[in-house]
Amino acid sequence: KKVVLAYSGGLDTSIILKWLQETYGAEVVTFTADLGQGEELEPARRKAELLGIKPENIFIEDLREEFVADYVFPMLRANALYEGIYLLGTSIARPLISKKQIEIARATGADAVCHGATGKGNDQVRFELGYYALEPSIRIVAPWREWDFNSREDLIAFAEKHQIPVAKDKRGEAPFSVDANLLHSSSEGKVLEDPNVEPPDYVYQRTIAPEDAPDKPTVITIGFAKGDAASINGEKLSPATILARLNDLGRDNGIGRVDLVENRFVGIKSRGVYETPGGTILLAAHRAIESLTLDRGAAHLKDELMPRYAELIYNGFWFSPEREMLQALIDKSQEHVEGEVRLKLYKGNVIVIGRSSPQSLYSETLVTFEDDKGAYDQKDAEGFIRLQALRLRTLGLRNRGGA
Ligand code: ARG
Ligand code: SIN
Repeated sequence: KKVVLAYSGGLDTSIILKWLQETYGAEVVTFTADLGQGEELEPARRKAELLGIKPENIFIEDLREEFVADYVFPMLRANALYEGIYLLGTSIARPLISKKQIEIARATGADAVCHGATGKGNDQVRFELGYYALEPSIRIVAPWREWDFNSREDLIAFAEKHQIPVAKDKRGEAPFSVDANLLHSSSEGKVLEDPNVEPPDYVYQRTIAPEDAPDKPTVITIGFAKGDAASINGEKLSPATILARLNDLGRDNGIGRVDLVENRFVGIKSRGVYETPGGTILLAAHRAIESLTLDRGAAHLKDELMPRYAELIYNGFWFSPEREMLQALIDKSQEHVEGEVRLKLYKGNVIVIGRSSPQSLYSETLVTFEDDKGAYDQKDAEGFIRLQALRLRTLGLRNRGGA
């Protein structure tokens, strides 16, 4: 039996690796992805080798451009937010990891895939819906749902027994569970489990506190083409480069921290602290460029559908017909979403200060309170309002009659 493990090189997936070898006698293939989590990948290779993985069974891939171009940007076209606040930074990375694991399973003739998500969360659902959608007969191993370890201590004892190095913060007070990629970092568990306790400073990984940010705003311009960010300050850049640059700008200005309680798909409420510096800037900028270039009907329809779309991504249904249908609708809406947005980044805030577009639907002639030279006839509004009011007046008459 051969199994492709989504391997970060960290403690948990190293334990899983050993556990797979011990419990199943499995030949393990490791897959480590660079999604922009900001960690070196070569240590993961060395660690896998140390744990007995054959060189030809170690797969390491830089997925940053694919992640941003094919997952993050399509999602941002929708202005997707889960429960009004979560930018879905972890949710959107899972389908790509699933897809690559299945590709590697095919290439190596593996019959199973394995992930390190617990049985209490969303990630298990996302990974596994992805696996099943792409390879309906794949076998899935989810160690957290199978093994007998009941506590962190059990895990650490197992690691020590197998000479897997345990970093100091894994024993102490660091958050239990962190996940990072180019779009966000998330922290959950341990000190964060009481939703009424303010997160200590050490929880934050990639932003400074707004109160520590400079007293002078940073002004930037983001250019859009077909709904996607394409340049910063006039410089054309690749999707991953744009997100990386905006992450730096966001970090330095204390942008993109959220502290929330969310509803997991499995039915548990959980408290998370997320940092999405670049994504937060992009969301504000994208809404600003849409405000000029989208027709009202188009804009309102996609806003109505957005919570559905966000929920599909959150719940792990990226590879579903309904997500693809909504994506087609959203992508269609973006045909004319181009132009530039000027923003001020200041102490945790993203403030739009200007927008322009060759595809703008904004008409100064129509909106002006000065002489519009007959562009708009104010008398038209009278009949418009009278007909809008017709049923309200009819109701009003009946109500008065009944009183
Ligand atoms: N609660 C967030 C989500 O469901 C973040 C999950 C983080 N995952 C992790 N393995 N640390 O998307
Ligand atoms: C996990 O359970 O592995 C992390 C949290 C989640 O997936 O929701």
